[in-house]
Amino acid sequence: MGEQNNPPVHSAALEPLYSEFSVSSLKLRNRFVMAPMTRESSPRGIPTHDNVEYYRKRAAGGVGMIITEGTLVRAPAAGSSASMPHMYGKDSAVGWRSVVEAVHGEDAAIVSQLMHMGVMRGGEPEFEPDVPTVGPSGIGVDGEPLGRALTRADMDAIKDAYVESAKLASDLGFDGVEIHGGHGMVLDTFIWEQTNRREDEYGGTLRNRVRFPMEAVSAVREALGPGFPIIYRFSQWKVGQYDAAVASTPAELEQILCPLADAGVDMFHLSTRRHWLPAFPSENSADQHMGLSGWAKKITGLPAIMVGSVAVDHPFVGDDPADDQDRDEKLRLVVEKFERDEFDLLALGRPLLADPEWVNKTRTGKTDQIVHFKK
Ligand SMILES: Cc1cc2nc3c(=O)[nH]c(=O)nc-3n(C[C@H](O)[C@H](O)[C@H](O)COP(=O)(O)O)c2cc1C
Repeated sequence: MGEQNNPPVHSAALEPLYSEFSVSSLKLRNRFVMAPMTRESSPRGIPTHDNVEYYRKRAAGGVGMIITEGTLVRAPAAGSSASMPHMYGKDSAVGWRSVVEAVHGEDAAIVSQLMHMGVMRGGEPEFEPDVPTVGPSGIGVDGEPLGRALTRADMDAIKDAYVESAKLASDLGFDGVEIHGGHGMVLDTFIWEQTNRREDEYGGTLRNRVRFPMEAVSAVREALGPGFPIIYRFSQWKVGQYDAAVASTPAELEQILCPLADAGVDMFHLSTRRHWLPAFPSENSADQHMGLSGWAKKITGLPAIMVGSVAVDHPFVGDDPADDQDRDEKLRLVVEKFERDEFDLLALGRPLLADPEWVNKTRTGKTDQIVHFKK
């Protein structure tokens, strides 16, 4: 599909996405969200002035909400890099407070993504290198042994760590938290059969495998009360395992998302690498075309964030060939999906790395001035 054959998607076509949105206490000026993107630019876990300006620019550029890069919860094996920001400790709190004030000063909301990397931390982390990597069963996403299995005491400590970070985020004025439950992070590896071989009540059936993520959400909900927005990020794929599927049918997806919703999730963030692909293509129903966010909405009745190669030519990570649809065609599909109520918010990652003003430029019809992301 050559770009010259289609007039560029202009602000009028995207108009519906500039409408306001609210869920729980979160009130957003539009539907555009900055996706969480790890930067590794917070020495000793402390966000610097550079981080403040980085987020301020994206807020000034028009997004309704920013989801921060993954911020580590207080657990010795939570992260891989010594420059990933922490969501605990006095000095990190000071840095984050300035980020929150800067983003609010530009009328955008900001939520903190809470992250424990589990086995995605790898075997030779820079952060706390003497502490072994942990996961549900000490198995990496490639199926090979990695680190050690979490004990029940470790799991309790991790739950407490999510709660501590969520409380800090709330105290600092963040508008909510996003619990990172995708991409092979610790919560995701509990749900995935390949990485969870436990024989206690946290392993075996899908119901058991979702128990720990559910308990983590529940603990945060209980500590923060009913009005504090909790977003949960879910993905089928894992870093390095792009064809992985935690849920192979809508019924399995329901068995994962509904307990999380019952535990207190307000909104799901469905991380896909290509937003236009159907989640369950062999599903023999009128919903066959639906992506993961559409299914999450249908199954849970909760709002959903869609993401994945909107306005970029290659998916995030992996060696897949370039996509065969041009950027404008993808935006057209986004609008169609919005009109079919398949998502509520649209997250952009790399487009906002390349151009913090992407949203404002699109809204005001200055699409020819957009700086596009190049792989
Ligand atoms: C540099 C970079 C760092 C990322 N770090 C994170 C992260 O910390 N947490 C997370 O959930 N996703 C992370 N992602 C994935 C993005 O949130 C997003 O899902 C992905 O980039 C696809 O969106 P896009 O096609 O608009 O870039 C990262 C992506 C990039 C490009």
